[in-house]
Amino acid sequence: MTSATLHDFLRSRRSIRRFQERPVPQEALTRILQTTLFAPSAHNLQPWRLLEIHSPQARRQLAAILTAALRADMQRQKASEQDVQQRTARTRRRLLAAPVVLLYCRDTTAVRQPDDPQEHHMGVQSVANAMLYTLLAAHAEGLGGNWICWPLYAAKAVRQELDLPPHWQPEGMLFLGYPAEDPAPPPRAPLDQALRRL
Ligand SMILES: Cc1cc2nc3c(=O)[nH]c(=O)nc-3n(C[C@H](O)[C@H](O)[C@H](O)COP(=O)(O)O)c2cc1C
Repeated sequence: MTSATLHDFLRSRRSIRRFQERPVPQEALTRILQTTLFAPSAHNLQPWRLLEIHSPQARRQLAAILTAALRADMQRQKASEQDVQQRTARTRRRLLAAPVVLLYCRDTTAVRQPDDPQEHHMGVQSVANAMLYTLLAAHAEGLGGNWICWPLYAAKAVRQELDLPPHWQPEGMLFLGYPAEDPAPPPRAPLDQALRRL
């Protein structure tokens, strides 16, 4: 594989929000998660903890918590009841329909100095790296994925309802599956807007 091909691969990953019903083979998912473990992490502490959520009951529980948090947030922002109902119904539908739902947690004990805010930050960054590695590994398998930040809004309730260990801090979710859409790349700001050279 040439470096140009690899750059094309990295640039062609898209957030995929609509999936075919075709199931994802467990072997493919396991390969993806094995590759995820190669993500860089601060001090190589690998603080990510992953949950594959297959059970329809667990998904329904999760949907109930997340839509309650979404409803509360939208009501605080004075959204109309119609908008609230549309968004919550869509959220629930996406969560129940995604072929693969992965919850990424941070092990709050996997840290060198628990009271150091910078170390805490590095733990969050490390989990984000794992999530990105999963998205790229899924892309390599011909799958699409979408990063979902909703668990951040109800982390404690998610932990309790899914009976997770107290030191598993939910950070985000990924939905994966075979793409049922081919979205155009969202615009990227030019490099000179993001970069300064000294
Ligand atoms: C931290 C983070 C949180 C995100 N949360 C959501 C989300 O909750 N729902 C969603 O549909 N997309 C979410 N995304 C996906 C972004 O919207 C997407 O990456 C961005 O629009 C660029 O599109 P691309 O991934 O196709 O390049 C999130 C991405 C990141 C990195």
